[in-house]
Amino acid sequence: MKDELKLGARLGVQRAAVWGMAARGDGLARLVSAPWRGEPYGIYARLREGAGVRRSATGLTVVASHALCSKLLRDRTFGVRTTDGAEPPPFTASGLPGDVEVIPSLLELDPPDHTRLRALARPAFSPAKIAGYRSGVENATARLLERALAEDRFDLVADFAAPLPIAVISDLLGIPDVDADVFARYGRVLGASLDGVKSVRHALQVRTANRELRALFTRLIAERRADPGEDVISALAASDELTEVELATTCELLLLAGFETTTNLIGNAVWSFATNPDQWDRLRGDDTLLGPAVEEVLRYEAPVQMTARISHRDTEISGVPVAENSMVIALIGSAGRDPAAFEQPDEFDIGRARDNDHLAFSSGAHYCVGAPLARLEGEVALRALTEALPRITVAAKPKWRSTSVIRGPRSLWLRP
Ligand code: HEM
Repeated sequence: MKDELKLGARLGVQRAAVWGMAARGDGLARLVSAPWRGEPYGIYARLREGAGVRRSATGLTVVASHALCSKLLRDRTFGVRTTDGAEPPPFTASGLPGDVEVIPSLLELDPPDHTRLRALARPAFSPAKIAGYRSGVENATARLLERALAEDRFDLVADFAAPLPIAVISDLLGIPDVDADVFARYGRVLGASLDGVKSVRHALQVRTANRELRALFTRLIAERRADPGEDVISALAASDELTEVELATTCELLLLAGFETTTNLIGNAVWSFATNPDQWDRLRGDDTLLGPAVEEVLRYEAPVQMTARISHRDTEISGVPVAENSMVIALIGSAGRDPAAFEQPDEFDIGRARDNDHLAFSSGAHYCVGAPLARLEGEVALRALTEALPRITVAAKPKWRSTSVIRGPRSLWLRP
């Protein structure tokens, strides 16, 4: 209880300080504070003014232009840990005693550990493997959509966008008897912790989710060691290059990264088309636009809006000094709306020229391992939805997640 009180007090002070900076107009503070955080695009536009980089009152440096975000993510001067390897703590750490042993995942490691773990995770996402997953994705899509469409109205998120990627990644990892609602809750709780733990209640939820996921993977890893299958857990468990905790952590990351983001890709896609019905008609008339449509959603409403890097030496970004071991935020969602990179960036246009890549899957050393799977799921989901829904009829005002890193609807009720 004493630890909870201390954590609550620390978070309260932190939140109040950041809110004060937001009230005085600091862009980064506004991106993470209510009421501003729900409408990030105007804030991004201001942060892109000038060179597209500035020092926030929070002490962090913020990079908002496409060119600088792209450069930062590929620049080996920057990593994801301090040079002594100690900071920052993993995003899934609850900050409370009694957490399971939480160590940095692939996302939070620099070479050589990053290189070693990434090489082990990558084979599951090779082109041949991805092609082999297609029929499973199509079957799960058809099953979920049939059930949703049988109702007078359905929640696109709870009934389709969340359970689809959960079914796909669980199958890939070989997790049997999945309760999609429970996994969706873990996803929301741990996905929200990318913003930092928000409250004591959130910390307790994070600790519980960590414990339950660790118990699940510890059991599955032991089972697959005794009786290996064709799944990713069996493949990872066969390697002698991973410690037990690294193995569990990698499985946990693959599970969470595998569905939390893709859920928002599908949710953001449907919302973007609901608000741009001419684009829906265009997509329904031309299935060669399915791939470009997924890319356009990723540019226009990136499921992961920002990420962070840490400078490994004293340096500068377009004249703004960055000290060794200080943090720089790359605003991926802003890069997608940069008029210097995309014509009419605030228009959702699935036929636009693709002269520049969006950064929704990041770039450089941490480029999303699961990007080909996410693209496959996005295309299969959109194809099925275009076949099922001549128009997208929204049945209630959507609710949005209250997070800043992960962006997407929390519920989106539709009428078939
Ligand atoms: C639309 C869906 C997705 C989006 C928007 C997304 C986005 C991202 C981003 C932005 C990063 C890098 C963050 C950084 O640079 O700091 C990343 C890394 C990663 N993603 Fe995804 N992701 C998606 C789907 C997936 C899927 C389906 C999987 C796995 C099944 C996956 C697994 C990973 C992993 C393991 C990493 C860590 C790579 C590394 O650190 O080397 N992601 N993702």
